[in-house]
Amino acid sequence: MERIDKLLANTGRWSRKDAKELIRAGRVTAGGRHVLRAEEKCEADDIRVDGEPLTCGQNVYLMMNKPTGVLSATEDSRQPTVLDLLPEHLRRVGLFPVGRLDKDTEGLLLLTNDGALAHGLLSPKRHVDKVYLARTEGVVDEADVKAFAAGMTLGDGLVCQPAGLEPLPGENAALVTLREGKFHQVKRMLAARGKPVLALRRLSMGPLKLDLSLRSGQWRPLEASEIDDLCRAAGIL
Ligand code: URA
Repeated sequence: MERIDKLLANTGRWSRKDAKELIRAGRVTAGGRHVLRAEEKCEADDIRVDGEPLTCGQNVYLMMNKPTGVLSATEDSRQPTVLDLLPEHLRRVGLFPVGRLDKDTEGLLLLTNDGALAHGLLSPKRHVDKVYLARTEGVVDEADVKAFAAGMTLGDGLVCQPAGLEPLPGENAALVTLREGKFHQVKRMLAARGKPVLALRRLSMGPLKLDLSLRSGQWRPLEASEIDDLCRAAGIL
């Protein structure tokens, strides 16, 4: 049993203040009964707002437009992490990033406390595509595209699965599609082709696309349909 305002705020969809207003306005039910006091303790299951059930119990699913300069980690003694960009009440619900982005990489980062979803999305068996926009020194050409498609073995012995590479016309930039996520993989693959990466941004992870209305460092809760699509991609729906 937990306070109803806290259960609502833990979803990431409402601040504690907004949750209190919803409760006062009589829009929240628990087990079919209206809950009108924020301090009332309830079970996490079957809570509804305006008749709509909260998705997936107490799990929280956020998308962040990760800025450069912060670590994809839950804590660090010296450097800021993505969790530092969240409000206080969301720093204590066990969120972690699903797959890491380098400190100097920006873009789509999924944060959740749903271990089964994270496991499914990261499993090599599930082949969840990650798409990156890479700005490069030098223009990516057809030979690079063929090398990516064939699967590269890097000078340090790293064996890479076949990957997508799509040069953007008129720009020193390309879209890179990977099904795996080895350490610095995009940077290492492009560097091996003599096209070092100058800037890297993740645009999508499986069915989840970066919401382009999110400014750098902003986040939002996932919509129910986005959660369902991810669960399907992870093989848990
Ligand atoms: N590949 C990289 O090189 N860096 C990232 O952050 C993600 C993929």
